[in-house]
Amino acid sequence: MLIAPSILSADFGDLLNDIHKTEEGGADYIHVDVMDGHFVPNISFGAPVMKCLTGRVSIPFDVHLMITDPMKYAKDFVTENTEFITFHREAVEDPMEVIDLIHSYGVKAGISIKPGTPTSALEGLFDKVDLILIMSVEPGFGGQKFMEDQLMKAVELSALKKEMGYDYIIEIDGGIGIGNIERVEAAGVEMAVAGSSVFKAEDPAEAVRMLKEK
Ligand code: DX5
Ligand code: ZN
Repeated sequence: MLIAPSILSADFGDLLNDIHKTEEGGADYIHVDVMDGHFVPNISFGAPVMKCLTGRVSIPFDVHLMITDPMKYAKDFVTENTEFITFHREAVEDPMEVIDLIHSYGVKAGISIKPGTPTSALEGLFDKVDLILIMSVEPGFGGQKFMEDQLMKAVELSALKKEMGYDYIIEIDGGIGIGNIERVEAAGVEMAVAGSSVFKAEDPAEAVRMLKEK
């Protein structure tokens, strides 16, 4: 299981140090939650913060854009560390245009769906995206309760992937911790975001290690 700690729950006053702890624990990606106060009712941080981390972090960035206008801002998140840029299906009318734009930067494109959006909303995109991000909380805040019913989407996407030979990575985000990581993996999830369960833990390195070992 790939583990992507979400820096939304990190100590922004000591961000680099917090990230280094997760690297020490074997984190695979740094999950970068970008919120515009419009697509979601909260503002996190923008590209300048992420750019400061570039070159000082040894693992790649998994950028999660919770913003209304990914066409306008995706480019700002392209750095030497950026491997994935994920945007929300609900935010745009023409997802293919955003996918093409992200690919034009040489970055992998992900698409995310909120808890109320079915996987059928991704029809026609399954062979176009590199990653599908299932939200297991309403996007906007860290530390919320995991929505168990969202695991069905992982089961569906996993079966579809096998049947059709698609390449997308199945990622889940929201409320993930040691108490549910095994169920999440059993449902077919390949990459899990963990915010508060890692950064609010006494020992973030150990928290990542435990998630990876489970
Ligand atoms: C929620 C964000 C998540 C969040 C996860 O809108 O997309 O990435 O930081 O935090 P936890 O793991 O605390 O639910
Ligand atoms: Zn996220």
